[in-house]
Amino acid sequence: MRATRRLGVFLKPYWLWATLAPLLMALEVAMDLMQPRLIQRIVDQGIARGDMGVVIETGAWMVGLALIGLAAGLGCGVCAIIAAQHFGADLRGTLFGKVQALSFGNLDHLETGKLITRLTNDATQVQEVVAMLLRIMVRVPLLLIGSLIRAILTSPELSLLFVVLMPIVLLALVWIVNRTYPLFTRVQQELDTLNTVMQENLSGLRVVRAFARGKHEVRRFGQTNDTLMERNTAASRMTALTMPLMMLTLNMGVVAAVWIGGVRIVGGELQVGELIAFTNYLMQTLMSLMMISMLVVRLSRAEASAERLREVLDSEPTVTSRPGAITTFAPEGRVVFEDVCFSYDPNGHDPVLRDINLIAEPGQTIALLGATGAGKTSLVNLIPRFYDAQSGRVMIDGVDVRDINEEALRGKIGVALQESILFTGTIRDNIRYGHPEASDEEVIEAARMAQVDDFIRRFPDGYDSIVGQRGVNLSGGQKQRIAIARALLTRPTILILDDSTSAVDGETEARIQGELARLHQTRFVVAQRISTVLTADKILVLDDGRIVAEGSHDELLSSSPIYQEIFDSQMERGGVLHGAA
Ligand code: UTP
Ligand code: MG
Repeated sequence: MRATRRLGVFLKPYWLWATLAPLLMALEVAMDLMQPRLIQRIVDQGIARGDMGVVIETGAWMVGLALIGLAAGLGCGVCAIIAAQHFGADLRGTLFGKVQALSFGNLDHLETGKLITRLTNDATQVQEVVAMLLRIMVRVPLLLIGSLIRAILTSPELSLLFVVLMPIVLLALVWIVNRTYPLFTRVQQELDTLNTVMQENLSGLRVVRAFARGKHEVRRFGQTNDTLMERNTAASRMTALTMPLMMLTLNMGVVAAVWIGGVRIVGGELQVGELIAFTNYLMQTLMSLMMISMLVVRLSRAEASAERLREVLDSEPTVTSRPGAITTFAPEGRVVFEDVCFSYDPNGHDPVLRDINLIAEPGQTIALLGATGAGKTSLVNLIPRFYDAQSGRVMIDGVDVRDINEEALRGKIGVALQESILFTGTIRDNIRYGHPEASDEEVIEAARMAQVDDFIRRFPDGYDSIVGQRGVNLSGGQKQRIAIARALLTRPTILILDDSTSAVDGETEARIQGELARLHQTRFVVAQRISTVLTADKILVLDDGRIVAEGSHDELLSSSPIYQEIFDSQMERGGVLHGAA
């Protein structure tokens, strides 16, 4: 229950609704509790004595109170729904905001697929339980205690029956809850697996098709789906068993009450109406107890969801601004790495970057070359602080990046990530993403530099063409160039192009480089092809997280065997060298 209670803060702004709902529910329960008592009156004082006046008057009271109960019940429902829906909306909003504030490191750990489940399924689970808490969870205990007291007041002697019945029912309840609780926990786990399989498949549908693994995935989904069904059935079977068992106990109780009560009525110690009222209260008491067992199961399921939400809410961003961090930052763009070591593991195991030292003067172009997995992306990711170095430091204009407010820092750095991700919307809005106030001329200028203006104009809607989800209706090279335009538009002091021209033909790449050369900015260009790095001021060759060679193309060609090897292999493949000075 701890995690669920922790989410209680989201209910605070709606305390009025959240208090009104239980109050109205209490009113409804009070009305319900009056009914058997009034029936008793009709029978004992009306029918038994042949007094029609009492029958009519009491009947009118019954209808009146029932109507009040109905209105209260409706009101309670409305208040509970208002409170719960607002709660849910705020919860989802906060979770979304939290995810936006988290660092790359947190997101590696929480995983996108699971986050989607948390923001949708788990949040809804908790929201539903809140609505339930405000209604049924108030109703049931009140009804239980109320009818128990009423039963005792109606007939203290018959109430001795509770002494026998309650322990039986309670024992049965404990047994059932103990059996079903683990079952429902397993249902929840299987539901998680199902969600993961589904999410993975939907986002990777193209890969599944490409490898013709559709049948395999259907089978994999089918297995999880079947397991979920089996577990659900097993759990429900237990709950289904509850009902008849409880009804049996309840009916035996009623039979015992009628029997004992009948004897007493004959003896003149009890009235018929009293017996009717008592059996009514008896049934209500036992029914409430049964409801409680179901509520316990439901609550425990919500607790599992609440716990997963808590994990998101309590995640602390791994990259944070230090107190007193610089908020206005206008660097010249001198980037220095000092003995930088980095690992994706928070404990520093398996470092992917080791003893990196480099200096990039303002306006210089630094190229990073190296085999796949060498650490190129990891290195450039340290500059905008997507991750923080484990040891050593990264500095811009002599200031440790950790001493600069993240937004201020990232405002000066333009990044075209290795995987170009575009958003659903127009091409114009995609290019403007980092600088929404940019004028149309600026957008066109950025697109022109990224060599993407021509083909955008060829679309029927030009810059207003809609890009599909993740840019589906664009080619890989087109997406990359739009991503470059998007990075250029922010007029960054430092530009990072992570393999951003890998899907662009050599000639176009050379033209993009020609345009970039006219800008005064510090550039980091990650590349696989030597043709991309020829004109760089400095080329760094990375191997297994270390800088193994450093210099200009000509220097490296004469001094570095690794570089020569790469050069030769690319020349053999007939790689045309573009952009050679
Ligand atoms: P990089 O992603 O830095 O390599 O990963 P790279 O040089 O850019 O490679 P390409 O050219 O884009 O393919 C360096 C190492 O860090 C690990 C990878 O396993 C790789 O060995 N890594 C990367 C992680 O552990 N976690 C990540 O999120 C990314
Ligand atoms: Mg990379």
